[in-house]
Amino acid sequence: MTRPLLIAIDGPAASGKGTLARRLADYFHLPHLDTGLTYRAVAHMLMEKGWPLDDEAHAIEAAKLVDLGRLDKHALSAHAVGDAASRVAVIPEVRKILVGKQRAFARQPSGAVLDGRDIGTVVCPDANVKLYVTASAKVRAMRRLRDIESRGGSADFAEILADIERRDARDMGREDSPLRPAEDAHLLDTSEMSIETAFLAAKALIDKALSSGSTA
Ligand code: DC
Repeated sequence: MTRPLLIAIDGPAASGKGTLARRLADYFHLPHLDTGLTYRAVAHMLMEKGWPLDDEAHAIEAAKLVDLGRLDKHALSAHAVGDAASRVAVIPEVRKILVGKQRAFARQPSGAVLDGRDIGTVVCPDANVKLYVTASAKVRAMRRLRDIESRGGSADFAEILADIERRDARDMGREDSPLRPAEDAHLLDTSEMSIETAFLAAKALIDKALSSGSTA
C-alpha cells in the first residue's frame, strides 16, 4: 500500500523555499501550507491590537484563533510582520498550538507540501522527502531587494542584509525547535541556482524517493 506523498521544506528567510514549495505542490497536485503565515498571523493580530510581541497570554489566544483556511497572504506579507513573527515564534505554547494545526493539514489523505523552519525536524518528522533550502545571506538580501524594487518600492541593501542576519540568528538560536536541517534532509544551496534549476533538482530527489518506494 502506498502512503500519501508528504514533502517537508525548511530553510532561512528569503531562501526561495516558498517559491519552490509552491512549484512542487503544483507539479505533484498537492495542497500546500506556508507555515510562516501561521506565525505571521499571530504577530499581525498582536500588532493590530497594539499588544507587545512578548505578551505570551495574548499571543497564545491569537494562536488558538489562527484559521488555516483564512490566512490573508497579502496582509501578512509585510517585512515588519515577518520580523514580528520570528519574535512570537520563540514562545513554546504558541508553537505547540500552531504545530497541532500544521500537523492536521499534513495528515490529509491527498498528501501535502509544508514549508517553514521546523517541518522536517518537528512538524512532519515522517515526511517522505525533506529538503533544506538555503543560500548565502548576501544572495538572499539581494533577492529580497529585487523583490521590493519589482513592486515599485525601495530599500537599502545593507539594512536588508542586517535584518536577514538578525532573523537567522533568532530562528537558529531559539531554544524550542530552532531552524536546522533534519538529519535525513537533502541540502539544496540555491545561491547560484535559478528557480527552475532548484525545482528540477528537488523534483529529481522526490522522483527518486518515489521510485525507491519511500512512500510505500
Ligand atoms: O517563512 P516566514 O518568513 O514567513 O516566517 C516568519 C517567521 O515565522 C520566521 O522568521 C520564524 C517563524 N517560523 C517558525 O518559527 N517556524 C515555522 N515553521 C515557520 C516560520
